[in-house]
Amino acid sequence: MKLWGGRFTKETNELVQQFNSSISFDKRFFRQDIEGSIAHVTMLERQGLLTMEELDSIVEGLMQIKVEIEEGTLPIDESCEDIHSFVESNLIARIGETGKKLHTGRSRNDQVALDMKLYTREEITAIDKRLFSLLEALYAIMKDNTETYLPGFTHLQKAQPTTLAHHVGAYFEMFRRDRSRLSDIYARMNTCPLGSGALAGTTYPLDRDYTASLLAFDGPTQNSMDSVSDRDYLIELLSALSTIMMHLSRFCEEIILWNSNEYRFIELDDAYSTGSSIMPQKKNPDIAELIRGKTGRVYGALISLLTTMKALPLAYNKDMQEDKEMTFDAIDTVKECLTLFTGMISTVQFHPDVMEASARNGFTNATDAADYLVNHGVPFRDAHGIVGQLVLYCLDKNIALDDLTMEEWNAKSPVFEEDIYDAIRMKSCVEKRLTKGAPGKAAMEEVLDSYRRYLDL
Ligand code: ARG
Repeated sequence: MKLWGGRFTKETNELVQQFNSSISFDKRFFRQDIEGSIAHVTMLERQGLLTMEELDSIVEGLMQIKVEIEEGTLPIDESCEDIHSFVESNLIARIGETGKKLHTGRSRNDQVALDMKLYTREEITAIDKRLFSLLEALYAIMKDNTETYLPGFTHLQKAQPTTLAHHVGAYFEMFRRDRSRLSDIYARMNTCPLGSGALAGTTYPLDRDYTASLLAFDGPTQNSMDSVSDRDYLIELLSALSTIMMHLSRFCEEIILWNSNEYRFIELDDAYSTGSSIMPQKKNPDIAELIRGKTGRVYGALISLLTTMKALPLAYNKDMQEDKEMTFDAIDTVKECLTLFTGMISTVQFHPDVMEASARNGFTNATDAADYLVNHGVPFRDAHGIVGQLVLYCLDKNIALDDLTMEEWNAKSPVFEEDIYDAIRMKSCVEKRLTKGAPGKAAMEEVLDSYRRYLDL
């Protein structure tokens, strides 16, 4: 049933009807639509706009619709324009004349603005839960690996040694920021548009504070034109989701590298890898690659919505209906990727021996050799030059700094003494890095302590 047939003399063209319809995708928030309607009529009764009997009958009808849709006994009729029309027409069919009072003092413009906020609010919480689980998984890896050495890279060239705990900790920080971004968005979007009408409020004595509190909003929105045309919170959400995907894609890229034959730092669990139809030896990191790949569609949603909203005049325009599919897709994608990534990273097998060997043969302790000289009074720039020459010498002989004899050290500088070997050992290189946020065990333990409190462990 159409909600607006009265002014028309002709049937809608069938393609127009399909093109205009949003029910195929907005049916996913039928629960929120009903929840919003119940709050609305509860307020209408309180304001004397409905009798108690009318309220009871509408609420009962709406509850039945909800239960029947959930149980699958009431199929959603996709010939309706949108979920709002479906619920309202079904209510009228069910309870008769009283049902026609549901939409008093309301427009689909404030209704859809409300539904979308209710829906995204729940999804933000669901995504946050997944981020939290991921952080728990990362913490578990970190606490066991404060002395697992691996090369830290810059320019993808071995740079200085660090630990697996420190490396994974960088991602802990990223995903923790992602949680805080989501909570900022939640706080900023948490105002209720219901009661804004089509754009200019209504002449009925609605109590917007009351509906806002019934729906657990911090309060009602302050400008009815903005209320029905604000999609900023979705843009912010898509930006936060894009950032989550960007973080996941960086981690996935490292997992793909680390899992390659060349690195062999890790081995993915069989349950999280796939094979090749032609090459029997293959065990591919498809899940990491797919997550990396799906980053594109989430970025796409952000750019799409920004572009849809560009230059839209106030207030509601049908363009805004386009906010849904892309937001839903981005939300679904991020949730799925977070769940799969958490499973994958929790089951990965690390190869500490390979990691440490890699850190050893890449001159990652060259800075420490220079620091040794500095600690014995050599200016840093000179120290840098001396160690550079030693590295060149080692490269030529295909050995590590650790393999140099005392004569070879002293050939470049008399300052080196026996204790240089100790100073450039992997463990001491890392253990001496004790500035806040550095990989040295004591510094790392402090950070792990704060993570434990953050995770409430
Ligand atoms: N399906 C519409 C949307 O998603 C609902 C609002 C319709 N409002 C209107 N004035 N046609 O935006």
